[in-house]
Amino acid sequence: MKDHLKRWFGYFKSSISKELPEDVMKRHEEYPKIGKILKYFSPIFKKHWKLAVLCAALPSLSMLINLPAPMVTRYLVDNVILAKNMSLLLPVLIVLGSLKLLPLILTYVMKFFNLRFERSLTIDLTKMILEKLTALPKSFFDKNKTGYIMSRTMANVQTVKWFFGDVYSSSFNTIVSFVAGLSFLFYLEWRLTVVLLAAMPFSFLGTRFIIKKNYILSHHNSEIFSRTTAIKHEIYNSMPLVKAFSTEKRAVEKLIDVIRLNFTITNEMMAFGVIEGVIRGVIPLAVRFIVFLFGVYWIIKGQWELGSLYAFQSYMTKVSSFPDAIINSIKEFQNRRVTLERMSVLFEAIPEDNINEGIKAASLKGEIQFRDVSFYYQKENYILKNMSFKVRAGEHWAIIGASGIGKSTLISQILRFYKPQNGTILYDGKDASEYNIRSLRRRIGYVAQKTDLMSGTIIENIKYGNHEARIEDVIEAARAANIHDFIKGLPEGYESFVGEHGVNLSEGQKQRISIARALVRNPDILIFDEPTSALDNVTENSIYDAIPEYLKNRTTFTIAHRLSTIQAADKILLLADENRYYTGNHEMLIKDNKLYRNFFLTM
Ligand SMILES: Nc1ncnc2c1ncn2[C@@H]1O[C@H](COP(=O)(O)OP(=O)(O)OP(=O)(O)O)[C@@H](O)[C@H]1O
Ligand SMILES: [Mg+2]
Repeated sequence: MKDHLKRWFGYFKSSISKELPEDVMKRHEEYPKIGKILKYFSPIFKKHWKLAVLCAALPSLSMLINLPAPMVTRYLVDNVILAKNMSLLLPVLIVLGSLKLLPLILTYVMKFFNLRFERSLTIDLTKMILEKLTALPKSFFDKNKTGYIMSRTMANVQTVKWFFGDVYSSSFNTIVSFVAGLSFLFYLEWRLTVVLLAAMPFSFLGTRFIIKKNYILSHHNSEIFSRTTAIKHEIYNSMPLVKAFSTEKRAVEKLIDVIRLNFTITNEMMAFGVIEGVIRGVIPLAVRFIVFLFGVYWIIKGQWELGSLYAFQSYMTKVSSFPDAIINSIKEFQNRRVTLERMSVLFEAIPEDNINEGIKAASLKGEIQFRDVSFYYQKENYILKNMSFKVRAGEHWAIIGASGIGKSTLISQILRFYKPQNGTILYDGKDASEYNIRSLRRRIGYVAQKTDLMSGTIIENIKYGNHEARIEDVIEAARAANIHDFIKGLPEGYESFVGEHGVNLSEGQKQRISIARALVRNPDILIFDEPTSALDNVTENSIYDAIPEYLKNRTTFTIAHRLSTIQAADKILLLADENRYYTGNHEMLIKDNKLYRNFFLTM
């Protein structure tokens, strides 16, 4: 027992409830005000306001109907049953029955409308969140773990619904029940009502303290939940790695650690809950005891009727639950506020430029100019510095340089994944910032260094590059990527399923499908970031034999280690270090550039 008590007091010592958890995604020092966060949802609310009002009004209507029931019961007991008045029995029972039946019917009507409201909210919220999320720059996703982002930006329908409906009906119900109940109580027996009222303020003792703790602990709780999701997501996603390195035990321990941490939080929550429960529970209990004592005493002495005591106790239960209802509402408000505050990072994050604005690039000639472009990921740690060069429409460029020097980074600049800190990139002579960013990317076909496929069929994956592509286009692209014969050899051909991230395929097959995906897009600019690194020479050569048809009249960038590709390029861009880069064709560079000569010799 002593141990238990000691441990129980220990829960307070962890003092997690003193400070908010550190928020890795938060942009500002403080969370925005709840009113400001709710404004983000106002378009959705405006669309469904009628349903919202209905869902808020029905519970209140039901409560209002139910309100006089104890008074009718009192009448039934005192004036019908005890007075043995048979003629009144049926009418009174009918009234009482309807007062009970109508709310019951309303409950089902309510359920129906609530479900409709929830469904509409689910669709609109999901749409809104995904639109916001996809409008964020790549850097947002670099910084945060996927599972973490997912858990913080879940469409929390219940919370939004609460703010746009439930809270009004429940507040209305609480207040009306209280006021009406109190009036009935005064009417029934004013002396006992005064006792009840006088005791009420004590129920609010310590509320402020508890509510603040509750708010902070709720933040911790959600943070831990997000972290747990992130860890799970990471483990599930790297199963082969976990297996290969036999780190199963470590993975489990990592997860258990956060779950344990969550226990400390819930323990502290529980410990506060006990104190709170005692403070809030003891006084109403005492009052109920006094009422019962006096009531029975008066009835025995013949000064009061049994029906009145019954009605008094019914209304008293309603009235004395008022402080509880208020405190619970505030707590619920805090918890839901926490959910929205955590979600607000999504609305506060700065989206990419020109998601909806800017010139729509229906087609491009493909001229690209870097004008004094400098870029870094981490402050002042430049990867690209003062780069200026011009790629004429239709030219083929090879980009070379040591591993980690910034080749993929340069490509991500062309794709506008990141904005340069300095300088501009021009497409067909116009500054990138003038274009609608999505339309610009639509004109680019991109084969990433790390191939990623979606779970689905092969044809779905190739058509990911261009939904309007006809089957002939798909086959033509697959032929050029030297994957058509393989696909045709599969039992289900183009309809074969490739699994998540294309697990059913070899690395080289995945690469070739991703090349076909880029080609079928029919882009004006093509970018290959080491597209054939997983291929043997024969397959690689066959791709480079077939692709040139596609490359005609398109500007292309190829990050390559293959001599023939480099030699065949119109221009070569050699990244030497963050301060130096060289451009020129093969003949020029081999003649004038020692670094290139060395590079060439070591290949
Ligand atoms: N998202 C990122 N955040 C921070 N640093 C990054 C990020 N991506 C790359 N880097 C860093 O930028 C530098 C250039 O990386 P980049 O991927 O462009 O190299 P690369 O030339 O393509 O190399 P490789 O031939 O190995 O693919 C590296 O030092 C890398 O650590
Ligand atoms: Mg790279």
